[in-house]
Amino acid sequence: MKKSILIGIVGSLIAGGAFTAYADKTHVLNSEKNSLVLTVDDNGTAFYQYFGPKISDSDVEGMLNVNSGLFGYTLPAFGLDSYGDKALAVKMPDGNISVDLQLVGEEMSSDDKGDLLTLKYKDKVYPLAVTQYFRRYKDTEIFSTWTEITNTGKKGDIELLTFASAAFPLARRDNYLTQFQGTWGCETFVTEEKLPNGQTLIANKAGLRNAFGSNPGFMISADGKAGENSGEVFAGNLVWSGPFKTRIEASPNFIQIISGINEEISNYDLTPGETFTTPEFIMTFSNEGKGGASRAFHKWGRKYGMTHGDRIHDILLNSWEGVYMDVNQEVMDEMMGDIAALGGELFVMDDGWFGDKYPRKRDESSLGDWMVNKEKLPQGIKGLTEAAKKHGVKFGIWIEPEMANTASELYEKHPDWILQQPNRPLQKGRGGTQVVLDLTNPKVQDFVFGIVDNLMTENPEIAYIKWDCNADIMNYGSTYLPKDKQNELFIRYHQSLRKVLERIRAKYPDLAIQLCASGGGRADYGVLPWFDEFWTSDNTDAYQRVFIQWGDSHFYPAIAQASHVSASPNHQTGRVVPLKFRFDVAMSGRLGMEMQPKTMTDAEKDFSKRAIAAYKDIRPLVQFGDQYRLVSPYDKGAVAALMYADEKKDQAVVFAYRMDYLHNQSVPTIRLEGVDENKTYRISDITPSDASKPSDLDGKVVSGKVLKNAGLNVRNSLGRPWTSLVLKLTAQ
Ligand code: GLA
Repeated sequence: MKKSILIGIVGSLIAGGAFTAYADKTHVLNSEKNSLVLTVDDNGTAFYQYFGPKISDSDVEGMLNVNSGLFGYTLPAFGLDSYGDKALAVKMPDGNISVDLQLVGEEMSSDDKGDLLTLKYKDKVYPLAVTQYFRRYKDTEIFSTWTEITNTGKKGDIELLTFASAAFPLARRDNYLTQFQGTWGCETFVTEEKLPNGQTLIANKAGLRNAFGSNPGFMISADGKAGENSGEVFAGNLVWSGPFKTRIEASPNFIQIISGINEEISNYDLTPGETFTTPEFIMTFSNEGKGGASRAFHKWGRKYGMTHGDRIHDILLNSWEGVYMDVNQEVMDEMMGDIAALGGELFVMDDGWFGDKYPRKRDESSLGDWMVNKEKLPQGIKGLTEAAKKHGVKFGIWIEPEMANTASELYEKHPDWILQQPNRPLQKGRGGTQVVLDLTNPKVQDFVFGIVDNLMTENPEIAYIKWDCNADIMNYGSTYLPKDKQNELFIRYHQSLRKVLERIRAKYPDLAIQLCASGGGRADYGVLPWFDEFWTSDNTDAYQRVFIQWGDSHFYPAIAQASHVSASPNHQTGRVVPLKFRFDVAMSGRLGMEMQPKTMTDAEKDFSKRAIAAYKDIRPLVQFGDQYRLVSPYDKGAVAALMYADEKKDQAVVFAYRMDYLHNQSVPTIRLEGVDENKTYRISDITPSDASKPSDLDGKVVSGKVLKNAGLNVRNSLGRPWTSLVLKLTAQ
């Protein structure tokens, strides 16, 4: 057996010699709870063997000796073998559609993000090099993999036909697949179904709002439906904001997951010397059910998958549902005063503030003309930042930088800057005139960067930007890209977007930026790394938000979910629910308001003030704590509930909502997770409607053992339609 030379080894690793011919060399990436085991055989073929609870070197050795490993190719390539699904398929310059890779180097290293295993391959004949990476993210349970594909030749393109980020095997058992679908106003709807044999596809081709349709996150359980806190779950997600495709191929004996950029209408030509980097596929294993997988993603998200995940996020008032496009100096000033008086910290002026020749009055004009409309705001943005200062709140502003309307000065000046196809009628979106800018064009990249840069240079007081995106790629064509690169538009658009966001973040690291795409159209890790949060949904109906936020919470932390209290009847659904219910739902995410405070009664203002103060108290728990989903709204019972706890389980906050009301309907006790059975907790009702009449649970002291095993009896407090509770637990 060939003896291998290993370079820079970290973690546990077993060198060749002791195993079967399949396992000449073994690489192990360990987190605190899990191990990912790979082997490389004598022919230089790498296999995934194991991903699950942490195992020792001798366990690994035993597993391989009895052939219990997964034996899933890490890089199944098309050509010599055409059976099964492939992660890599290319067309060589001479038309040969086959890949025959030889391993030429292996390295285990570590950097500030954690351990990194690198496998380097070269095609035996053709000028193709592939580097495959496997990362274990420090201080998290998240592992990842991706590749770099290089045309090392001097002439002739290599056409990438399939270029997935990951091919990952799972053991075939009684698996259930949980996935998330949605559209405008009803994002991230959860479905969990038995995984059938054959191919299951989770994919999206919208272009920009890639979380409308299917979200790239998914979970697969091992033995029956996974519980929230028990059962084995594999969870994966793709760090890509463009069209993606995850193929899950299940046979009676095996599961193979292939995930990456959706290559349909996106084959990519690698020119000589060019390297293509696939997006990262991130994954975790949990034997604490779906909740364990979600908590792993939340922790990773806060640390690596978003901006300012370690910084408290402000309580804000956004102007949209309050005044829509009727913004002006007086009304904005008044709203800033109102949110300040309620205890809020930030005011955001939404759409409607810009446009000169084409004033933004409706959604049919002005995108692209990012100059203040002097009629509405004669004192400019300065007038607004000064008003904010006067009221003691920060100021934020809405933009939709990737877009234009055909009714705009921008379009008149630069008709070639928008995506378009020759000889085809221009498709237009919102307002009948909305079009998408061609970000592949460096001049357009400068322009988009300049929108933020100009605002910030002229008004350094701006603390927050709401970055919206209300269209998909409608006209698949670029006047900038050459003819033979048109098929790369989806990919190049998103690469360019990343470039622009990098520039913005390099210059404005402190700025808070919200990611909005007609609500939650971009609730994914593809662009979240450059943003502080996402607008969870344009649907602000508290009842439906319980479902939407539940879905998002499978992968995205509460600190990233903008969750606003809006008017009743709700503008999207017409539902009438009490202000307390609306606050209690919004407080389980990043709390904000989205209404005209002027329309509130004094009693409502008084309640809002108390709720905002209460949120400040529990905010570190919600924004940084561990989340436990307790009772699912999808169970369609009387109550839904979730909670957050700090790491030591000294403090926790429980949210419970009455979701259905029939007289004498069963309201089971809510059994809490995230409490320490050896601790005793004092319960306080922190958002009672009437401050002098808190819930009968308020002030009670009860052990973690009881809370976990017997549960909380909420029958009295949630005995009526639209009742809700926010209870803080403090260890005594
Ligand atoms: C989108 C957003 C809303 C609001 C409007 C403004 O729909 O999702 O929150 O900003 O645009 O036009």
